[in-house]
Amino acid sequence: MNADALRSIKQDMAHHVHPQSNLRQHAEQGPLMITHGKGVFIYDSEGREIIDGFSGLGCVSLGYNNERLVNAAIRQMNTLPFAPTFYNRSHPRVAELGERLIDMAPSGMNRVMFQCSGSEANDTAIKLLWYTNTARGEPQRRKIIGRVRGYHGNTIATVSLSGQPHMHAKFGLPLPEFKHTELPNYYRFHIDGESEEEFSGRMAAKFEELILAEGPETVAAFFAEPAISGGGALMPPEGYWREMQAVLRKYDIKLLADEVVCGFGRTGNMWGSQTWGLEPDMVSCAKALSAAFFPISALMFKDALYADMIKNSDEVGTFGHGYTYAGHPVGAAVSLEALDIYDEIDLVGQVRRVSKRFLENCHAMADHPLVAEVRGVGLFCGFELMKDAKAREPFDPAWKVGELVQNFAHDRGLYLRAIGDRMSFMPPLIINEDEIDIATERFKGALDDAWAVIKAKM
Ligand SMILES: Cc1ncc(COP(=O)(O)O)c(C=O)c1O
Repeated sequence: MNADALRSIKQDMAHHVHPQSNLRQHAEQGPLMITHGKGVFIYDSEGREIIDGFSGLGCVSLGYNNERLVNAAIRQMNTLPFAPTFYNRSHPRVAELGERLIDMAPSGMNRVMFQCSGSEANDTAIKLLWYTNTARGEPQRRKIIGRVRGYHGNTIATVSLSGQPHMHAKFGLPLPEFKHTELPNYYRFHIDGESEEEFSGRMAAKFEELILAEGPETVAAFFAEPAISGGGALMPPEGYWREMQAVLRKYDIKLLADEVVCGFGRTGNMWGSQTWGLEPDMVSCAKALSAAFFPISALMFKDALYADMIKNSDEVGTFGHGYTYAGHPVGAAVSLEALDIYDEIDLVGQVRRVSKRFLENCHAMADHPLVAEVRGVGLFCGFELMKDAKAREPFDPAWKVGELVQNFAHDRGLYLRAIGDRMSFMPPLIINEDEIDIATERFKGALDDAWAVIKAKM
């Protein structure tokens, strides 16, 4: 390792506290220092070339070098590096981005607000629901339902809504207004002999039970990722969204589709909502909106909700919500360029083309002794690792099998993410078939390496 890399690591260990990290491990081993990237590859401080099989954090859609995005940022920085969107002020790029997003949005969205992260988009949505429910004379409709293992962000409200126990522990969370319904992992939780459709019906019945127990008149909305990402790349079972939406309609409960990961092509359609037939009332997006070249997010919703916002704004005199960098001109310019590129390269067509090879290769690993289930769509695939696939017996969590595979994959030059014993594989959307072959070969090698260790323990 060269002197620069050593200095960076020393600086980082001395002062930088890392989010979502094992702090003890950081103190003892230091960080993995990534120095640069190109295409689907990232490079660490030891000069190792690694295929990014997790798109950074599910956000680097166009890879790590893109002159057009860079130039869009520079042009905008030279023209107008900042302009507030508070106090009835605007600038051309954010107006254009709003129109562009609404033109492409699913399910009749007509209004958009901007923020800097997925968390802020979802947090804004929660506030808007509370705000507008007072305008509708239903101030008691404050409860928001998420799912066990769902993920919607890390503000106090959005992490409360997320079903991630390690993000609640010691923080005194979740807040009481946030409830969680079942995780629709068919493979893990179906009863013997139960079909996917039947399982989905049971999930919806459980959901209805929760709504009735809480009181339907107190429930504002259900927030859900079309396919669960941070909870382990979990695709919904057959019939799930049809059944869940029937319950929502029955009790007049709103649906927010969290498209922070699924949006912009990941699932082989522009939106995950299109892949699985969701008809949301609100849509949040972030990450690939700017291809991860600038932090920006958006919350879209329908005119009906906007009408209630106007009512309250009239009464109070202003709509009292917003962030300094909402609709940042550079973020808007970079996002517009990203959307242009998506059109020009036919992003959805590209994902559909290469996902054939991607999913074929993924499914070819299904009979590996560590792998119990492979399920994916587009460039988004989850792998369940189990001690006994048939009996659905998990490994002892202390064996950290997922982490072992992740580490072996890194050694072989592939970044994969382990979520417990589920592996999430979601490369940049510009990946080509040769790179897919190399990545999946490395994945398979990592499974073999891990199996050699695990077999000896069994
Ligand atoms: C589905 C989903 N929603 C929301 C978020 C939060 O986004 P951010 O980290 O930009 O706040 C994430 C982050 O991974 C996510 O996966």
